[in-house]
Amino acid sequence: MKVLVSGSSGLIGSEAVVHYDALGAEVIGIDNNLRAEFFGPQGDTRWNLQRLQASTRRFRPHAIDLRDREALFRLFQAEGPFDRVIHCAAQPSHDKAREIPVLDFEVNANGTLHMLEATRLYSPDRSLLELGGARQATGCGPQLRTGRQGHAPLHRRAGARGGLLYQLLPQRRLAECLW
Ligand SMILES: NC(=O)c1ccc[n+]([C@@H]2O[C@H](COP(=O)([O-])OP(=O)(O)OC[C@H]3O[C@@H](n4cnc5c(N)ncnc54)[C@H](O)[C@@H]3O)[C@@H](O)[C@H]2O)c1
Repeated sequence: MKVLVSGSSGLIGSEAVVHYDALGAEVIGIDNNLRAEFFGPQGDTRWNLQRLQASTRRFRPHAIDLRDREALFRLFQAEGPFDRVIHCAAQPSHDKAREIPVLDFEVNANGTLHMLEATRLYSPDRSLLELGGARQATGCGPQLRTGRQGHAPLHRRAGARGGLLYQLLPQRRLAECLW
């Protein structure tokens, strides 16, 4: 079995790596340590990457940015097709999303779109796309608010990601949400 895990150095993604490696799968990881940009040195995930590299057998990480669609497509072409695609890369904090709404959207919405499209094009038949967040999948995240007098809802941060899922993936392939 060949598994792709995005956000492989993060909390949920790294556990997915450990899980599938223990099952004997070949696990390909994507993580560019963007968490360190979101949260500063405390968010640096290199320690977790080193832990995975020391403890797994068939894990191969790639420092690709999901916002870079062409780089992602090249990885799918080189390594795919995958039996399972697990998408955990994200900017996970609702509070942080208010500070960096553009970057948040680029990662959570555009990054998810790129993962969906790469899966559709290069790993079409047997892949499942699983998400790390029910809020992203159901669109029940907090509303972004703006403006001095505003508090006008712009969009649902996580809902944008969930909406993409429902538009682009047939229901039958939404096999499982992890949360
Ligand atoms: N941790 C929880 O308890 C929890 C609970 C419910 C839902 N979730 C959801 O699960 C998902 C993952 O959460 P987590 O706690 O593992 O987050 P995390 O921040 O620990 O991991 C995310 C990883 O994605 C990487 N990443 C971010 N943007 C990237 C990009 N553009 N390209 C490549 N890599 C990128 C980061 O460097 C990080 O290692 C999020 O959507 C989160 O909202 C998490």
